[in-house]
Amino acid sequence: MTILVTGARGHVGRAVLDVLVAAGQDVRASSRDAATLDVPTAKVSADLEDPSTLDAALDGVESVFLYTRPSGIEGFVKAAEAAGVRHVVLLSSGATLEPESAQSRIAALHHAVERALIAAPFAETRLNPGAFATNVLGWRADIAEGVVRTAYPDSRVGAIHEKDIAAVAAKILVDGSHTGEALQLSGPEPISFREQAAVLADVLGKPLPVEELTPEQAAERMVALGWPPEVPPEILRAWARTAGEPSVVTDVVREVTGHAPRTFRQWVEDHRGAFT
Ligand SMILES: NC(=O)c1ccc[n+]([C@@H]2O[C@H](COP(=O)([O-])OP(=O)(O)OC[C@H]3O[C@@H](n4cnc5c(N)ncnc54)[C@H](OP(=O)(O)O)[C@@H]3O)[C@@H](O)[C@H]2O)c1
Repeated sequence: MTILVTGARGHVGRAVLDVLVAAGQDVRASSRDAATLDVPTAKVSADLEDPSTLDAALDGVESVFLYTRPSGIEGFVKAAEAAGVRHVVLLSSGATLEPESAQSRIAALHHAVERALIAAPFAETRLNPGAFATNVLGWRADIAEGVVRTAYPDSRVGAIHEKDIAAVAAKILVDGSHTGEALQLSGPEPISFREQAAVLADVLGKPLPVEELTPEQAAERMVALGWPPEVPPEILRAWARTAGEPSVVTDVVREVTGHAPRTFRQWVEDHRGAFT
């Protein structure tokens, strides 16, 4: 069976591809620009927001690892049905499972894709991870200056390694289990931004004092980095909440894969080169 991995250049998509290749699966990788995609598998250009590009990508495919792109999801469902796809594993977000998800623009984007897949004639599984460990890649410029700057430094999140999301996705893509389910994924423990900075300092071997930003300063920086202006207030509200009550941590990675989720320290050790 051929498994299509969309977003094969992405942090999670590439990790999914690597697990499937290591397991000897027949994998096809897609990107909006396959010519620039460096993968050890077949590859194809496909834009999830332009369904006219999907037929070649989906030809002969049984299962799909899908990134959330609400614009074009109806076209994706039609193309996948026509191609005979049997199972789609969606990289969604834990935001859709939060109590206030009805007010969340981030959750709304993921909800739109989740709803379309639930209504589709093929099987689907939703992966709903909380905060990614990769989010600290956004600290690289500050870390190069020898500091970590963040609002709500005592916000505690269950930072998850992309390899653990990938291990869950790959297992389900291959064995077709967990259909119709939403899997709330997390790392092994809540870890505050301050504690993440301390782990980075320890592994990178340099002091990284934390400079606390006001929410306004943090929002300005996010917008300067290209985030749509409506997103930072939502993220900052979530950080304010998890500064009081840590994010949900689950044992789903272990339940699905049989191994404990990787620690944040393991993530930093795996990505040491990204900070030097
Ligand atoms: N960061 C978090 O804490 C967090 C938590 C929960 C959920 N999430 C969700 O996880 C996802 C991000 O995962 P990631 O970190 O692995 O992303 P990433 O590294 O930024 O990669 C994004 C991938 O999406 C692909 N892509 C973008 N637009 C596309 C389109 N129109 N058609 C096809 N492919 C497209 C890109 O491929 P090409 O550029 O090669 O086309 C790229 O490979 C988001 O949906 C986010 O909401 C994030």
